[in-house]
Amino acid sequence: MKNTKEAQNIKLRVEHLTRIFTNKKGETLTALEDINIEVEESEFVVLVGPSGCGKSTLLNILGGLDFATSGTAYIDDRPISGPGSDRGMVFQGYSLFPWLTVEQNVEFGLKMQKVPKRERSETARRYIELVGLTGFEGALPKELSGGMKQRVAIARTLAANPEVLFMDEPFGALDAQTRVVMQELLARISRQTKNTILFITHDIDEAILLGSKIYVMTPRPGRVSKLLRVNIEGERNHNTLLNPEFLAIKKEIMDLLWQTRKIEIE
Ligand SMILES: Nc1ncnc2c1ncn2[C@@H]1O[C@H](COP(=O)(O)OP(=O)(O)O)[C@@H](O)[C@H]1O
Ligand SMILES: [Mg+2]
Repeated sequence: MKNTKEAQNIKLRVEHLTRIFTNKKGETLTALEDINIEVEESEFVVLVGPSGCGKSTLLNILGGLDFATSGTAYIDDRPISGPGSDRGMVFQGYSLFPWLTVEQNVEFGLKMQKVPKRERSETARRYIELVGLTGFEGALPKELSGGMKQRVAIARTLAANPEVLFMDEPFGALDAQTRVVMQELLARISRQTKNTILFITHDIDEAILLGSKIYVMTPRPGRVSKLLRVNIEGERNHNTLLNPEFLAIKKEIMDLLWQTRKIEIE
């Protein structure tokens, strides 16, 4: 009974997904090879791997911006075949509309969905509060720091109420301290909102701080080499970085990634 129920709760499923790029000379590059991933409803899953292992390629395919050479990804039982409002994306670049205020940026998706003005304003304000930006509703993006802009991008994506949220190194452009603040914020928000999230990063600490499940990817060709579960009790914050369970998982991931580097060097 339990198994059946669990199987029904898989929100995103990536099955045998391969992406091969071919250049003008006809040379091929296997960016992704036989990727299999499952994200349950309300689960925070992280894909960690070094730069060039195919993380963004995978996220672009899941966002419907690129196509797999073979294999399929599904939201519930619907195959992904193009962009859709069932998915929200947050990238490293802030991708805010520079001429719109914070509130106008956050309510943008709702406006597209033709939500009435009053309701979308209320929703926008709720998400602005969730990311700690109350008081900045009327500010323009150029008046905000990098961390604040990324808070707006997160609020905007959440306000549109996607079924699955994809995040591609969203904190990659931030300084180290702001990044930890944002990681704590996202860990807290995701616990509150129970969104289904697939988060991609090359940062091992970030992966363990945020994920309940981590897929470790290795490059050339981009493959999932291991699935790890993170069982750290309680709230995750900067103190978690010294938790023995955290350090044990960190060592395991570093060993996995180092093994593949050795192969490259030899
Ligand atoms: N449009 C493309 N055409 C050809 N090669 C690409 C294209 N996009 C990505 N690649 C190659 O695929 C590999 C994976 O890239 P990418 O998905 O950006 O990795 P990551 O996000 O993990 O750093 C790299 O070797 C990259 O050069
Ligand atoms: Mg990338």
